[in-house]
Parts: sequence; structure tokens; C-alpha cells
Amino acid sequence: MMFMSALIGLTPLIGSLVGKPEVVVAVDTTSDPDLVAKLKSAATMLDRLDMLSDEQLVYNFSSNPKYSWHPGSVSNANAATWPILSTVGVTVAQLNLGPCAMLAPHHHRANNLVVAVSGTTNTYMYQENGARMVEQTLTPGMMTIFPRASVHTMYNTGCENNQLYSFLDDADASTTNLGQAFFMMPKDIGMTVMPFIELSNGNWTATGQAMPQVGTGSQAGFESCLEKCGLSTSSYATNNRVVMG
Ligand SMILES: *[C@@H]1O[C@H](CO)[C@@H](O)[C@H](O)[C@H]1NC(C)=O
Ligand SMILES: *[C@@H]1O[C@H](CO)[C@@H](O)[C@H](O)[C@H]1NC(C)=O
Repeated sequence: MMFMSALIGLTPLIGSLVGKPEVVVAVDTTSDPDLVAKLKSAATMLDRLDMLSDEQLVYNFSSNPKYSWHPGSVSNANAATWPILSTVGVTVAQLNLGPCAMLAPHHHRANNLVVAVSGTTNTYMYQENGARMVEQTLTPGMMTIFPRASVHTMYNTGCENNQLYSFLDDADASTTNLGQAFFMMPKDIGMTVMPFIELSNGNWTATGQAMPQVGTGSQAGFESCLEKCGLSTSSYATNNRVVMG
């Protein structure tokens, strides 16, 4: 799997890279739980509209705390970040991918449609055991589907910024990254599944933590792409790289 080969490629670096972790936003925090509670207990949409100003009925992705192009970001408008959606059952995410930037393999508790606005993005989707790998190239105006619970990943093939929008049929769609999820499991189980993993000082937890953090939802791309664009992993996107004291 992609994340594992990336991880194995990274393992020899662990311990040699020293850096200070940037503060990164891993999950959406609920902006206004009281308003969400009131909206959810309202009987009708008319009642809900009476509780909301015009300003609360428009969403500005650029002001989402995750908004970034270095290396990129997934900015969610969902029940946490935009209260009106808590009663609607939809999430819309703006996907910003800087040059070569990628989303690590992950899945959602929702069906997911992704539409490209700019650039060229390669996507990979594995629905479940026994399925084939579905690979797509998204150019502007192209859309693909990642059905509920499918594992998917994508990267910007180009050296310019890419933007896409992602639509999910749940206001609380969740995102689970496979790499992090795997290392949350007990070491004995993980090492039985993948006995070839080189652990950092024999420490399972520390090895898992050496993975690029979920951060703003996007991470720096792989070396061959970055080289093609004249970018190196050390000068670019250090905020999502391995950080080990
Ligand atoms: C959206 O948010 C950005 C970042 O906070 C801000 O600069 C911009 O003015 C906002 N746009 C509108 C139309 O309010
Ligand atoms: C393993 O790494 C974790 C995370 O860095 C650390 O908290 C823990 O103390 C380490 N365990 C040992 C036995 O060194």
C-alpha cells in the first residue's frame, strides 16, 4: 500500500531529522455548540432561519483555520465549522493542493464526490477487500466518486496550486487516515501484519508518530514529483514533515 511504502522509505530518516513541530490543526472544532443545539431542536426551517443572520448563511472557506497552500489543506464546511449544516446532512470541503501535495490514504463515514476546479490531480480508490484499484485523472470540470468507506488518496501531479471541491452526504463525515489508524493498533498485531517494518529504537508508538501529521489535511508530495518541480522536501512544506527530537 502507498502509505506503507512511503513510511518504509522514511524509516531510515527517523532520528536524523530534528525539528520543532508547528502547531497543526488535526480535527475540526465545533465553532458554536449552543447554536447547533438550538438549530437541532427547532421544529422547522423557518424557525432555524429566524435564529440565523445573513452572515451565518454564507461560508468563507478562506477563513477556515486549516486554509493553507503549504503544502495544502482540506477546509471543511460541516456541522462543526458551519452550524446551519448540522441540520442539513451535507459537508463541502475545499481541497487545496500545492505543487505535488497529496492527501494520505483515508476514508469517510459518507459518500464522497470530488470535482476538480484547476490543475491535474491523480486519484486512487480501493473500495473494499476484493475490489480493484480505481485510478482517475481529474482535470477541471471532472468529477469522481469515493463511495462510503472506500479508501482513497490523491496528489497534485503538477507544479502549480490545484483546487478541488469535495461533497459528502453527512454533516459529520469524519476522516480516518489509514497510516495513523494502523499505528494506533497494538504493536504485536501491527508487527505481525507487517513484520518488515523497521521500528525507531524498537518503539512502535514513536515510529507511528514519525509519520507526517494529519495537520491541515494535506501533506508534502513525494520526492520525484518535488524534484521535477524544483522543490525539495527540506525547503518545502516542513510543517508536515517528520519531527523527531
Ligand atoms: C474571507 O476570509 C478571508 C480570510 O479571513 C478574508 O480575507 C476575506 O476578506 C473574506 N471574504 C469575504 C468576502 O468576506
Ligand atoms: C516510545 O515513544 C513514545 C512516543 O514518543 C514515548 O512516549 C515512549 O516513552 C517511548 N517508549 C519507550 C519505552 O521509550
